[in-house]
Amino acid sequence: MRNNIVCIFTISFGLLTLMQVTNGKIFSRCELKKALEKNKVNRSFIAHWVCLAESESGRNSSKLTKKILYDMYGIFQIHSNEWCGRGGVIGGSCWTRCDNFLDDKLDDDIACAMKVFDKYGFKNWKGWEEKCKKQDLPNLSDCT
Ligand SMILES: *[C@@H]1O[C@H](CO)[C@@H](O)[C@H](O)[C@H]1NC(C)=O
Ligand SMILES: *[C@@H]1O[C@H](CO)[C@@H](O)[C@H](O)[C@H]1NC(C)=O
Ligand SMILES: *[C@@H]1O[C@H](CO)[C@@H](O)[C@H](O)[C@H]1NC(C)=O
Repeated sequence: MRNNIVCIFTISFGLLTLMQVTNGKIFSRCELKKALEKNKVNRSFIAHWVCLAESESGRNSSKLTKKILYDMYGIFQIHSNEWCGRGGVIGGSCWTRCDNFLDDKLDDDIACAMKVFDKYGFKNWKGWEEKCKKQDLPNLSDCT
């Protein structure tokens, strides 16, 4: 009897943990703004970054897009191979595991996205080209 209860408890807890991992986190616009500010992203571009994340991942920090030659990771959909290593391997110009971009800690995502930006600019991101460039950006003035 006691064993059954322990067993059910363990399974439920396991499922709960699994669900949390797979669901990731949808950042609100204001939460994302805050994270960008904390990482000293140029204020003139913050609305662009929020728009970009919205377009690329729906602000979903665990968004993973699988392609054949590369995958795209996290809220900014950072590409494997050039920027990070796939399959748990440390690599890319950001010298990290791509999987590290799937959690809801954004400091590393932001640092790497800034490197991508330094090299290619916003035009690296199709989502930015399509939804943000020369378009209305999210209004963040109500964020406290
Ligand atoms: C922020 O970006 C603007 C526009 O490109 C630029 O004029 C300004 O110097 C930048 N500020 C910082 C602190 O880099
Ligand atoms: C976030 O992305 C992950 C991985 O792509 C997906 O499984 C999950 O359903 C997404 N969450 C939401 C709320 O869309
Ligand atoms: C953004 O929202 C604020 C408050 O709701 C409003 O006063 C302001 O006009 C808006 N700015 C733009 C550019 O729409």
